[in-house]
Amino acid sequence: MTSVVMIAGDGIGPEVMTATREIVRAAGARIDWIEAHAGLPAIERFNDPLPDETLNLIRKHRVAIKGPCTTPVGKGFRSINVRLRRELDLFASIRPVQTLPGIKVPYTDVDLIIVRENTEGLYAGMEHVVVPGVVESLRLVTRDAVERIVRYAFELARNQGRRKVTVVHKASVLPISDGMFLRIADAIADDYPFIEYQQQTIDHVSLDLAMDPTLYDVLVMENLFGDVLSDLCAGLVGGLGVVPGSNIGKRYALFEAVHGSAPDIAGKGIANPIALLRSAAMMLDHVGQRVPAARIEQSVRKTLLAAVGLTGDLGGNGNTRTITDELIRNL
Ligand code: NAI
Repeated sequence: MTSVVMIAGDGIGPEVMTATREIVRAAGARIDWIEAHAGLPAIERFNDPLPDETLNLIRKHRVAIKGPCTTPVGKGFRSINVRLRRELDLFASIRPVQTLPGIKVPYTDVDLIIVRENTEGLYAGMEHVVVPGVVESLRLVTRDAVERIVRYAFELARNQGRRKVTVVHKASVLPISDGMFLRIADAIADDYPFIEYQQQTIDHVSLDLAMDPTLYDVLVMENLFGDVLSDLCAGLVGGLGVVPGSNIGKRYALFEAVHGSAPDIAGKGIANPIALLRSAAMMLDHVGQRVPAARIEQSVRKTLLAAVGLTGDLGGNGNTRTITDELIRNL
C-alpha cells in the first residue's frame, strides 16, 4: 500500500478525481489516499489557496496527485502551481506526448517527451515598473538549475531507451543566458555518447513540430519555452483532455492533468477524466505499481478506439460516468 496525497482541486477537479480514483482502484492499484486541500475550497476554509497543511502533507508522504485549481485573478493570490513547484523544488516538468488511437489528428506517430525547467526563467516572479510606462521582467537562469534539468533529460532518455535529446533555445537573442544553457548542455551530452544530441532554436522547433513531429524525441528547455511547446504538443495528439503531466523534484513528485478547472463545464458531469487518469498511471509507475499503470494505459487506448461512452470533447455524446464505466470495463 502506497500513501499518496490527493488534492481534488476545484471546478471539474473533484469530478475527474472521483472518476480517476474509481478506475485506479479497479485496475488493482493499492493506494492509501490522503486528502488535502488547495484552490477555491482552501480559500474558503483557510483563506489561502495553498495552505501550509497541504504542503506539509506532501512533504511527509512525498507523492501527490492534484486536480486543477482556479487561480483567482486580481485578488492578490499567486498561482498555486508556481508556488507548489517552488516550495517543493519540483524542478522538472515532464509531459509525455504520444498519438492515441481513435482521435482524429493530422499525425499518427507522435512520440515525444517535453522536459521543462520548472523553477526559474520568467517564472521567477521578478517584475517591476522602472518608470511609468516602462516595465522590466527578469529571466533568471542559474548554472545549477540548467545542469540538473539537462542531466535529468539525458537520464530519462537513457532509462527509457530514447534515441535523441534536443536542447531548445534562443541563443541568438539571449547569448548570455541561453549561451550558458547550451555550453552546459554540450558538456553533459559528452557523458552520454550513445544518445544523439542536438541544439535547435525555439522557432525552428515550433515549425518542425507543426510539419513533422516525428523529428523529435526528448526535448529539454527553460520554463516559458516549455510552457508554450508542451501545450502545442498536446494539440498534436488530441488536446489537453488526454495529456498527462508530472512535476518531479529530488524529494517529491506531484502528478497532475495539464488542463485547468474548466469552469464552463464544472458541475455538469461531462468532464473527461483521461488526462488525470493518465497522470495517475504515471504516478503508479513512479511508485513501482507498474502492472496497474500499464492496465490503465491499455484501457485508455482500447476505450478511445472503441469510441463508446466518450465525452463531448472527444467527439462522443457520453459523460464522465459513461466514460468511467467504459474505462473500467476495458481494464
Ligand atoms: P481550461 O483547461 O480549464 O479550459 C479550456 C477549455 O478546455 C474549456 O473549454 C474547458 O471546458 C475544456 N476542458 C478542459 N479540461 C477538460 C476536460 N477534462 N474535459 C473536457 N473539457 C475540458 O483552461 P482555462 O479556462 O484557461 O482555465 C480555467 C482555470 O483553470 C483558470 O483559473 C486557470 O488559472 C486554471 N488552470 C489551472 C491549472 C492547474 O491547476 N493545473 C492549469 C491551467 C489552468
